Amino acid sequence: MRVLVLGGTSFLSKTVAAEAVRRGHEVVCAARGLSGSVPEGARHVRVDRDEPGSIDVLAGERFDAVVDIAYTGLRWVRDALRTITTRHWTYVSTINTYADTATLGQTAESPQHEPIERDRIDLAEMTPEVYGGVQVACEHAARDALGGRLFIVRPGQITGPGDYMDRFGYWPSRFSRGGRVVVPDTPKQPFQHVDVRDLAAWIVTAGEQRLTGAFDAVSPVAPLGPVLEEIADLVAPPGTELVPVTEETLTAAGVQPWFGPKSLPLWLPASHHGLAAHDASAAQAAGLEIRPLADTVHAALDEERARGLDRPRKAGLTPDEEVALIRD
Ligand SMILES: NC(=O)c1ccc[n+]([C@@H]2O[C@H](COP(=O)([O-])OP(=O)(O)OC[C@H]3O[C@@H](n4cnc5c(N)ncnc54)[C@H](OP(=O)(O)O)[C@@H]3O)[C@@H](O)[C@H]2O)c1
Repeated sequence: MRVLVLGGTSFLSKTVAAEAVRRGHEVVCAARGLSGSVPEGARHVRVDRDEPGSIDVLAGERFDAVVDIAYTGLRWVRDALRTITTRHWTYVSTINTYADTATLGQTAESPQHEPIERDRIDLAEMTPEVYGGVQVACEHAARDALGGRLFIVRPGQITGPGDYMDRFGYWPSRFSRGGRVVVPDTPKQPFQHVDVRDLAAWIVTAGEQRLTGAFDAVSPVAPLGPVLEEIADLVAPPGTELVPVTEETLTAAGVQPWFGPKSLPLWLPASHHGLAAHDASAAQAAGLEIRPLADTVHAALDEERARGLDRPRKAGLTPDEEVALIRD
């Protein structure tokens, strides 16, 4: 196949490009080249999607499969749809497109946010709801233009090599240091993820097989308590102790759920359990294979070590914050 990846210089889009190269496809990556390099064997075409007309360099080329990870609003998506000719198109959307964040077991047919028709959203405006609504509008634009040639994947949190979010990686990183580790006292809370390598493999297969329709790209749901215990078993030194702290105590101490400074990554309040509890069966039936969690954990720890275990993080507790929680 001739595959065009819009992106290809970091995390998911780079992993997709690398997987397509590995399978012997001809791969073109269209990006600025600011986030990194394209995988060996892929061709880099310099495109700045914020620069009017920049994507026109791809006009007239024909592809068998296109993969778009656009996340900034309708302009990027419409420009690409207008310019590029292909037999199959993958649009990477998000689990944040669903309106109901609490209900467990939702599917790709569950109600989504109202579309937010914005050409461009800046990072500062990017609440999960705004991001979700804009991505719904982008899905609609792609569907209107492509009809039955469109494959929409809505990933939950993406994990594994290249993950720069500091979220899942917090846990292997923290457990690897040992000692007394604060964990949320929410052992039954749902957890799900998708390893970037599994998602990329499925996206390339979808292009090969011209798979179409909308799917939630998630692992089967697992309770968070045993997941954290498994991560600790894999990477923690002997003597490591998991110290459960109640949601009330965490909230009173100003600890954020999920992400951000002074947060406990993966902890979700009940109002958001639905975001980590989508029905994984349709994606699995359509070919998404989920590797053992241990594989993702080891890859995440390698990534953490490469980035520096002591770096400032976008998510997690600092050692001082953790000690204060246990002491109080
Ligand atoms: N991370 C998660 O947990 C998660 C969860 C759900 C959904 N998603 C969605 O999954 C998709 C992939 O996420 P990701 O973080 O893995 O993204 P990514 O593939 O790392 O995408 C970023 C790519 O966009 C390119 N890019 C950025 N600005 C550009 C510009 N002005 N012109 C051209 N290319 C530009 C970057 O290349 P250059 O900078 O080199 O130009 C890079 O290759 C996104 O749609 C995201 O919303 C992510």
